[in-house]
Amino acid sequence: MPATMLMKPLSRPVFLIGFMGCGKSSVGRFVARRLKAPFVDLDTCIEEHAGMSIAKLFATQGEDAFRCIETQVLAKSARQIAIIATGGGVVTREQNRAILKQASQAGAASVVYLRARPETLATRIRRQPGVRPLIDGQSTLNHAQTAARVQELLAARAPLYEECADSIIDTDNCSFDEIAGLILSTLN
Ligand code: S3P
Repeated sequence: MPATMLMKPLSRPVFLIGFMGCGKSSVGRFVARRLKAPFVDLDTCIEEHAGMSIAKLFATQGEDAFRCIETQVLAKSARQIAIIATGGGVVTREQNRAILKQASQAGAASVVYLRARPETLATRIRRQPGVRPLIDGQSTLNHAQTAARVQELLAARAPLYEECADSIIDTDNCSFDEIAGLILSTLN
């Protein structure tokens, strides 16, 4: 479906899930604009809640503190009729997976997994160095090192994304517009 097609107003929360660099925020913002629906970026909500950047939150309070806030903002977002970009690690906590699955099983939300290969993700992640502590927390990695780190994390997470998803979209060879169109087609 072309992303330019007219759409019904959004009637439920739509969670975009997937690994860092899969396009959840950029495509999500675009889809929300098309639908004239609110857009919520959970990473931004976490930064607002913590009063600091995610990199600083990881460095000063650690990943557990970050994950606690992530669960709070995720639970709150499930009550909003909006396009919601989650962080790539949201599925690593059982409590978060339960929130996503409960909402989608009741038909009260949609969960869309934007899937991509490690190579694609590594290329996209490297365009924004220093913002993702789990990839380049202590040092800046070269492309091969980034791809290896992505592969390692993705191997553990891929089954979790699949477990939570109502729809899966393969984004590797898709333009921004095509991904947006595919997301819109899952919402009818
Ligand atoms: C994380 C992904 C990041 C952010 C944090 C942790 C992860 O979000 O929430 O750095 O564990 O995969 P993006 O997927 O938007 O980069």
